[in-house]
Amino acid sequence: MEIPDMSSLQLHSRPEMFDFEGISMTHFFTDNWEKVKNFQARPDDILIATYPKAGTTWVSYILDLLYFGKDDLERQTSQPIYERVPFLESCFQDLKVIGTEMADHLPTSPRLIKTHLPVQLVPKSFWEQNSRVVYVGRNAKDNAVSYFHFDRMNKVQPEPGDWNNFLEKFMKGKNVFGPWYDHVSGWWEKKQTYSNLLYLFYEDLVEDTGREVERLCSFLGLSTSVEEREKITKEVQFDAMKQNNMTNHVTVPVMDFKISPFMRKGKVGDWKCHFTVAQNEEFDEVYKEKMKNTTVKFRTEI
Ligand code: A3P
Repeated sequence: MEIPDMSSLQLHSRPEMFDFEGISMTHFFTDNWEKVKNFQARPDDILIATYPKAGTTWVSYILDLLYFGKDDLERQTSQPIYERVPFLESCFQDLKVIGTEMADHLPTSPRLIKTHLPVQLVPKSFWEQNSRVVYVGRNAKDNAVSYFHFDRMNKVQPEPGDWNNFLEKFMKGKNVFGPWYDHVSGWWEKKQTYSNLLYLFYEDLVEDTGREVERLCSFLGLSTSVEEREKITKEVQFDAMKQNNMTNHVTVPVMDFKISPFMRKGKVGDWKCHFTVAQNEEFDEVYKEKMKNTTVKFRTEI
């Protein structure tokens, strides 16, 4: 596995956020926009769509094992998950990470492609080609906590400030990739009219990973054996993925694991260790208002 050369990456300052088509973004996700917008999807592509920190890596790894786990040992032992599943809109020129190019050069079929884009910004060829989409949603409270720790440790994300500051920003939708509320509800609405979309919940995955793997197989039309599914379910447990250097992101040079590890806790309800009573009350009020027009429901504990 190649570890990118970081010597040329300007990391002394965190990126600024700006408004892009109504969504807070950093230039890392807009620099390559023309190519992203005109990306040519294929009918057998599988798009893994999430708000950041909702379980993207988890579902990416499950899909990778379902499709390529049995026959390609080399892939499993030497290629980190973020190379196997390119991040479509990412553009880290200095690291030579350009999502559209990585996707175009994927040798596999199907291609597994990751995006954090809100539904209205997804390249239209995915809809035209009727590509399959797996969306993963995570309850807002745990999602916010996970995002806070991620922004602390990831030097190519904006400075999060302290927890209170971050939570205020989250409630206003001023995070990279925009408001959580619109993201989860926008994709939920899409599901009502686009049948090739499976909407999964992080909480369901934690509650019963095997059941969700089965659900994935049935959506994708895979006839994976029970034994194989059980094997995969074991391999994708939090502790196994935390130990696995191909999934734990230890090789990503912009992440400072001394601040917080990528595989941090993997729990439902960790928000209770972060929210004060006052923060929780305010959050619930804001939540009620922002989610009043959608039917999507999340569990904040299981
Ligand atoms: P925490 O920070 O709450 O631990 P993403 O891949 O979208 O960036 O999401 C990362 C979050 O998913 C982190 O949440 C990470 O620990 C969690 N995660 C990743 N793999 C997991 C697994 N196998 N089981 C449970 N949680 C997992």
